[in-house]
Amino acid sequence: MNELAGKHIVLGLSGGVACYKAADLCRQLIKEGATVQVVMTEAAEQFITPVTLQALSGRTVYGSQWDAREPNNMPHINLSREADAILIAPCSADFIARLAQGRADDLLSLLCLARPAQRVPLLLAPAMNREMWAHPATQRNLAQVAQDGATVLAVGNGDQACGETGDGRMLEPLELLDELIAFFAPKVLAGQQVLVTAGPTFEAIDPVRGITNLSSGKMGFAIARAAREAGADVTLVAGPVHVPTPRGVRRLDVRSAEEMLAAVEQQIPQVSVFIATAAVADWRPAAASSQKIKKDGSGQTPVLEFVENPDILARVAQSARAQAGALFCVGFAAESHDLLAHATAKRARKGVPLLVGNIGPATFGQDDNALLLVDAQGHRELPHASKRVLARQLVGDIAARLQAQRG
Ligand code: CTP
Repeated sequence: MNELAGKHIVLGLSGGVACYKAADLCRQLIKEGATVQVVMTEAAEQFITPVTLQALSGRTVYGSQWDAREPNNMPHINLSREADAILIAPCSADFIARLAQGRADDLLSLLCLARPAQRVPLLLAPAMNREMWAHPATQRNLAQVAQDGATVLAVGNGDQACGETGDGRMLEPLELLDELIAFFAPKVLAGQQVLVTAGPTFEAIDPVRGITNLSSGKMGFAIARAAREAGADVTLVAGPVHVPTPRGVRRLDVRSAEEMLAAVEQQIPQVSVFIATAAVADWRPAAASSQKIKKDGSGQTPVLEFVENPDILARVAQSARAQAGALFCVGFAAESHDLLAHATAKRARKGVPLLVGNIGPATFGQDDNALLLVDAQGHRELPHASKRVLARQLVGDIAARLQAQRG
């Protein structure tokens, strides 16, 4: 999607087995449109050769502060000045200690120290054995480099190259890519607590059957991701879907509309923005059978009775906090026809300031969509684009409304 188009990244490798993941990370950065300048420490070159990273980045790799290729012989100045960000991945315990002390006796730590700190952010992706990670010296150094302005990314948990299991693995390349994309996103929802519902609900008929719908959850997940990238604290209440949880988003899985309502009601007191993208089943079987309903051979089909599910959005929108303007509610409308008329009527019926219409059958399960934003003043189209792009535009729109509300 070229999410890093125009960005120039200095990718620094310090010594660690996770250097092998840096090769893939380099590819992923370039796939997203970034240009990448690799700088390696001597230790990193023990784990992977500069040849690989030169081939992947399309640029010669730097390793020495005495590199005479630069006309002014100052690679530490030149490389750090042209970067939009410096990402150290893997960042070893030793390299963190060097940064904490402001050491400058190798090119990578030298260029970190020499970077214009206000303009060129430094992100660290630590990678080390779990004991090294937990050691007070490492934690002390991490706190110091964070205080000095570096962004310390999380570590993964799991099997380590040494055979042990625990915290300290470097994040996977795609996770690091997501972190970098999120880092560059404008923080228009900083300080907001956002709750998103997504996906279908499943209403049981008996232990093996139920009714549901074709919602994939992709739009809601994209919105949760965009809200988190915009700096919000995000909780996602998800019906049964097969979509990976966006990084940094708290996910609560539910099945039925009643479970979704309970999860939403539990979260809502701490929330400032509620975005209801879920395609909640309107009805559920009046009484789910506790045992599988069997054919009895008579040819008679079972008669199912339905009761209406609670309207989660309408309930939240009627709450005192929403009415007082402390909770901004956004509804969705999945329609099959007459989108503007249905969306306008639905906005009034649900009592929400903003309702987002889309054509359900055209978008369920797809990676793209088109949205129609309806408010008290009128409507505005967000034309056909990927759900990622639309989610960002919607988040930007909501942020502008919150800003306007505040005056
Ligand atoms: N919604 C909800 N709880 C329900 C039904 C809907 O929270 N029980 C929310 C949806 O998440 C969405 C909005 O209400 O934000 C509209 O959902 P939609 O299914 O399009 O509308 P319905 O209320 O079901 O109306 P209709 O059946 O007339 O289309």
